[in-house]
Amino acid sequence: PIPVIIDCDTGVDDALALLFAVRHPGLDLRAVTCVAGNTDVDGVVHNTLTVLEQAGAPDIPVARGAARPLIEPARSARHVHGVDGMGDLGLPAPRRGRAAVDAVTLLYREILGSPTPVTLIPTAPLTNIALLLRTHPHVTRNIERIVFMGGAVATGNATPVAEFNVWHDPEAAAVLLTAGVPITMYGLDVFTRVVVPGADVRRLRESAEPGTRLAGELLAHRPSAPDPDGDDPAGGLGDAGAVCAVADPAGLTTRLLPVEVSLAPGPTRGQTVVDRRPRPGESEIHGGAREQALVDVALDVDVDRYVKLYLETVERG
Ligand code: BDR
Ligand code: CA
Repeated sequence: PIPVIIDCDTGVDDALALLFAVRHPGLDLRAVTCVAGNTDVDGVVHNTLTVLEQAGAPDIPVARGAARPLIEPARSARHVHGVDGMGDLGLPAPRRGRAAVDAVTLLYREILGSPTPVTLIPTAPLTNIALLLRTHPHVTRNIERIVFMGGAVATGNATPVAEFNVWHDPEAAAVLLTAGVPITMYGLDVFTRVVVPGADVRRLRESAEPGTRLAGELLAHRPSAPDPDGDDPAGGLGDAGAVCAVADPAGLTTRLLPVEVSLAPGPTRGQTVVDRRPRPGESEIHGGAREQALVDVALDVDVDRYVKLYLETVERG
C-alpha cells in the first residue's frame, strides 16, 4: 500500500476523507495531523480522534498542529461545518488522547522513518505543511507527492476568486507550491463535482456498521446538490475526493501548469492564479519571465468512478 499522511481540519468532509483512507486497501494511513481551519485546532483534534475510533482505527497517531495561520488572524468556518466543526452530529467523545508530539514533529518522524516515500494529503489550510517545510527542509527527499485540496482554477468560495484552504493561510500555500516536490492541486473545480446520489447516502445511513453509518450521516450534512433522482439529499465527497485521487489517479485529469498564490492585500488575496495560456504574453515579454511553481492541476474528474470507489471502500467495513 501507498504510505499516506492526512493533514486536516476535521471538518465534515475531512472526516469523509479519513474514513476512506482507513478503509482503502491500497492506502496505509500512517498518521493524521490537525490544523486550525473549519474549527479551532483542539476541536479538530477531538473530531479526528472520534472519527478514527468510529472507523475502527483507534491506533493511528493524531497530532495537534498550528492554532492559527502564519500571518492571518485565526478565523473559523463554523457557519459551514457546525459549532463543533463537524455538522453538530453529537458524536461520542474519543476514548484516547492525541500523540505526545506536535504535528510538525510527527510529520517529520513519520516521513523520514518511512522505508518508502510518503504521499502527503493536506485537506486544510497549509500552515502545518509550511512549518514542516521550513523547519525540516530535507523531508522532501522522502515525499513522493503532495496532493492537496485547495485552490481553484475558476471560481472561489471564501471570496469570489479564493478557495477557503488557500485563503485562510495564503503565505503557507505559497510555501507549499514552491516546495520542490511533485504537487497535485485538487481544487474547487473538481471538488464540488463529486456528489453521492441520495439513494446511496440513505443506504449508508441505514447501515449497521458504525463507520459506514457515519459516512452516510456526514454526507447527509453536505447536501451540495439537489438529487435529480429522488427526495434524499445527495452529498458531496469534498476533501475525500483528494484521497480518491491518490488511490486512483487515473480518475483525475491533470495538467502541469504554472500556479502562483496571490499574496497581495485586496480582492485577489488567496487566489491561485493558474496560467493556462498556450504561450507567454506581454507581461513576460516586457517584464522578463518570473519563476513560478509547476503544479499538476486537476481539470476534470470521472465523477461516477470516484463515487463508486468511495462507496465500495467505506462499505467494506
Ligand atoms: C475546503 O474548506 C473546508 O471547508 C473543506 O473541508 C475543504 O477542505 C473547501 O474550500
Ligand atoms: Ca478540510
